[in-house]
Amino acid sequence: MIQKADDRTLREAIARLRRGALVAFPTETVYGLGARADDAAAVAAIYAAKGRPPENPSIVHVASADAAFALAAEVPVVARALAARFWPGPLTLVLRATPGRVAPTTLAGGDTIALRVPAHPVAQAILVGLSLPVAAPSANRSTSISPTTAAHVEASLGADIFVVDGGATGFGIESTIVDVTGELSILRRGSISLADLAEVASATDRGERVEPAGQSMRAPGGMARHYAPRVPASLRSRESLFAETDLRRIGFLLLADTVARDGAEIVERLPNDPVAYAHGLYAALHRLDGAELDAIVIERVPDDSAWAAIRDRLARATS
Ligand code: TXA
Ligand code: MG
Repeated sequence: MIQKADDRTLREAIARLRRGALVAFPTETVYGLGARADDAAAVAAIYAAKGRPPENPSIVHVASADAAFALAAEVPVVARALAARFWPGPLTLVLRATPGRVAPTTLAGGDTIALRVPAHPVAQAILVGLSLPVAAPSANRSTSISPTTAAHVEASLGADIFVVDGGATGFGIESTIVDVTGELSILRRGSISLADLAEVASATDRGERVEPAGQSMRAPGGMARHYAPRVPASLRSRESLFAETDLRRIGFLLLADTVARDGAEIVERLPNDPVAYAHGLYAALHRLDGAELDAIVIERVPDDSAWAAIRDRLARATS
């Protein structure tokens, strides 16, 4: 059930969350499927709705950095610096959890907690009104394409879910996840670039360096196949996009200036700019996935660092 985000809907959303029910709501990255993080049964309902394995912990959303750090057993200086610069916003920090503050289910039984202070006014209104931590993975079936509109949530999770409709999300890909429990490491690339993180980290006392976590991604949800359409999808360079003779049942996701060959009927285009591309990516994949195709072909994006988070999502969507 999709409800426009007016005052009445926000009150209803807060009341539902308070009594342990699920609510999907927009953040500036993607829509989240939220429940009280301190209520094991409520969080279990998220996992059931998503078909998410219980060993994959959820990000805990709160209204402010103070509320976030109250859930952390220790807060390194660099965490405060990153929070001061990027919160509210699309950054998630992994810290040691204060025992007993959220349900063990939320943390998948682990001793760390992923904390996020979203900037979206709807998310903020809910979190301020509720004044409790909210566990919220992306509001889609596990491993499928994340939702950037309320309609995507309903298409993925069904019409019974209460969805607060705040329009299309701004960034369009998930938050950057940084583990600050030891050496700084990036568990998931996102809208905040490594360069931006490194600038803040290097200005702290310890002169922290930012490293991508490498092969052994420690975000348990960092499995290769993720953000994936149901239709088989592959990545190709511009030169080999149209290799088949029969292009009719193939959907193409192309950059704006790529010329499509005659016969390619189903073509989605995204801008050559990484920010605008990220904003439109999941909606384009959702449209292609719903177009009854035999295959989806995605054009490779540029190699430079500005496109790194997008390359990560495209690799997962096609693996
Ligand atoms: O932008 C976002 O982060 C969105 C919005 C709704 O906030 N949320 C989101 O949640 O993308 P989800 O569950 O789809 O992805 C969260 C990722 C998963 O890969 C999970 O394994 C990882 O964060 N994660 C959660 N808690 C963790 C922890 N304590 N340590 C390491 N990774 C964690
Ligand atoms: Mg997700």
